[in-house]
This record gives sequence, C-alpha cells and structure tokens, in this order.
Amino acid sequence: MRPGPIEPGSGRPVRAVVYGVGAMGSVMTRLLLDKGATLVGAIGHSPEKVGRDLGEVAGLDGKLGVTVEDDPAAVLARSDADIAVVAVSSYLETMFDHFQICLEHRTNVITIEEESFFPWSTAPSLAQRLDDLAKCHGVTIMGSGAQDVFWMTLPAVLMGAAHRIISVHGRATWNVDDYGPEVAEHVHAGSTLPEFESHVAQHGWPSFVVRNTLDALVADTGLTPTGADTAVRPVLAAADTPSSSLGRVIEAGSLLGVIDTATVTSQEGPWFTFEQTGCVYGPGQSDVNEWIVRGEPEELRLRNDRVPTRLATCTQVVNRIPDVIAARPGFVTVADLPRPRYRHLSLHSYLGCG
Ligand SMILES: NC(=O)c1ccc[n+]([C@@H]2O[C@H](COP(=O)([O-])OP(=O)(O)OC[C@H]3O[C@@H](n4cnc5c(N)ncnc54)[C@H](OP(=O)(O)O)[C@@H]3O)[C@@H](O)[C@H]2O)c1
Repeated sequence: MRPGPIEPGSGRPVRAVVYGVGAMGSVMTRLLLDKGATLVGAIGHSPEKVGRDLGEVAGLDGKLGVTVEDDPAAVLARSDADIAVVAVSSYLETMFDHFQICLEHRTNVITIEEESFFPWSTAPSLAQRLDDLAKCHGVTIMGSGAQDVFWMTLPAVLMGAAHRIISVHGRATWNVDDYGPEVAEHVHAGSTLPEFESHVAQHGWPSFVVRNTLDALVADTGLTPTGADTAVRPVLAAADTPSSSLGRVIEAGSLLGVIDTATVTSQEGPWFTFEQTGCVYGPGQSDVNEWIVRGEPEELRLRNDRVPTRLATCTQVVNRIPDVIAARPGFVTVADLPRPRYRHLSLHSYLGCG
C-alpha cells in the first residue's frame, strides 16, 4: 500500500531514491543511510552498474537490497519516495526530463545540478515549466550543493554586517579529480588549447554556476539585477599532470580546467563578482573559498582554507532534505528557504519542527 506523503511528526523515516549513482550519488547514499533515510530505489545508467546492488555500486561495505535500475518511471512508481536525490548531469535543459519524471510521480527533488540553484535568469522558461509541474503535483524541487553554505549563506551573512555595500567579490577553487567524468568533461580537462578555443568560438560558453550563485545572492538581498557578464579562461598544465578522473596524464600545455567569472550589477548600486577555478590539482593544492565585501566598513572578509568541497556538497544536500520536503510546492531556491542547518538526528525527526 502507498505510504502517502510524509506527515510532520509521524516518525516515518524519509523514503529516498538515489537518482544517479556516480561519484556524488555514491557519497550521498552513505550519508542518507547514516541519517536514517530508507533507500527505496536507485537509478543508474551504464551496464556496469544497472542490475547490481546499490551498496556495492556506491562502494559501501555490504549490500542494501536495493538494485540499481535504468527505468526511472518504474522505480519512482513503485517506490513511493518522499524525495529523489538527483546527481546526474548539469544544465536544466539536459536534466529536464529527469526532473519531470520525478515530479510527475509526486516525488520531491533535491539536486546538485548547478543551474537549479537559481535558474530564473539563465533558464526561466524551463524553470517555470518545472515550477508549474511541481505545483500541479504538490511537490518541491530545489538545487543545493557546495553553493548553499559556502558560496551563498556565508557571504550573505557577512553582508549582514555591512552598513553600505559597494561591491562583493567571491573566489573559490575546487579539484576536478574529486568528481566524476561529468565534471571533467564540463571543464574540458585534458583538451588542448586549440580544441578549447575552437569549442568556445563555435558554441560560446554558458552562463553557469558562478552566474547562478550570484543571482541567488542578489535575490537574497532584494536588490534588482540590471545585467550580468560572464567570462571563461583556461587553466593550462605547466607540466604533465595525472588526472584520476580522466584516468590519464594531461600533457603540459593542455587544459587542467577553467576559471569561470561572473559579474552581476544592480539597479541600487552594489555589484557582485565571483571567480571560480575548477581544475585538476597538482600536489599540495587544496580548495579555497574567499569573499570580500567592500563599502562601509571599508572591507569585510571571510576565507575558508582546505574546504572539503566534494564531501560538503553531499552533506549540504542531505541536511537540506527536511527543508525541501517541508517547503511549499514549486521550484524553490535557497532564497525561499531557512538557512542551512546541521542535522544530527534522523532526517524525519526535523519534519514538523519548524
Ligand atoms: N552543485 C554542486 O555543488 C556540485 C558538486 C559536484 C558535482 N555537481 C554536478 O553533479 C553532477 C554529477 O557529478 P558526479 O561527480 O557525481 O558525476 P559522475 O561521477 O560522472 O556521475 C554521474 C552519474 O550519472 C549517471 N547517469 C548518467 N545518465 C544517467 C541516466 N540517464 N539515468 C540515471 N543516471 C545517469 C551516470 O551513471 P553511470 O555511471 O552508470 O554511467 C553517473 O554515475 C555533475 O553534473 C556535476 O557537475 C554539482
């Protein structure tokens, strides 16, 4: 019998489907189990994973009795999940059908697809269609990930100490080798410079993570955005550099990754810029997150060294699950939700607790 939507205070564990069992989906599988979720389905793609036990595919010690399947409709129809944790690919356009099928099966969605963090300026019509669909089925979709605490909440709180802001500058770095092939491909790791330049000349470079993150930050302030500029530049290998994600050595002179930059201006004056380096690291490098707010006071700064971006992406998603289940139906963003919170107990115990 269908368990029905989870009721606040019912004591029923959150029922979750892991949608995409790659580098990130595997980590989230462990975290979901730790936080008392019942895993009721797993959706994969390649013949190497489909048909195998989720515990095995996710690299856990034992089997979970959940088989990885490649038919999302069948899994979602059968599993009566409260939430699908979606970690497959990037861009709303690519992910639209995956999200649609979850929402049509009355399953809430939390995803690390980056555009979903704030899709209203880069993919407004797709976001609107998903918003309508979610509302029609009484469920919620939301994007979270590294953006949530480190690139949104921390600078937003820092800005709360300003009397007047002239500008906000963010800088973050992350290691391509912490993620799966999807990410390496996105930043063109391993491409030669002419290949990258010809790709950008032919296809342009999409307004992506940095832009979506700044859009969320600006939305959170209530300022009126007036324009956005984005740019990309390659990070070239100074010497031959092994990449575990690519499974090969990147030759000197080829791309380790890219630096994405976005600048967003506002009608009221403050302007925002965010530069993000995603590349294959050499020895001794680690992730950094740094924000500077200029105005009065003259300068407010925060800096996080050695950020464990890969794990923290997954922890933030899992901690957000009670917020998503409790949120109003539709496509919501962090600007609509309470600040991220640590969840020490099982996820379901936070439902109905405000
Ligand atoms: N927001 C953030 O903070 C953040 C952080 C990290 C990553 N990301 C994004 O999250 C995505 C996943 O990253 P990752 O490192 O986990 O990549 P990954 O290791 O390449 O995993 C992607 C997974 O998606 C699966 N997949 C592909 N097509 C599918 C389909 N049609 N149905 C079901 N599963 C399918 C693949 O399955 P097979 O292995 O079976 O082929 C693969 O396991 C990327 O788009 C990345 O940019 C976001």
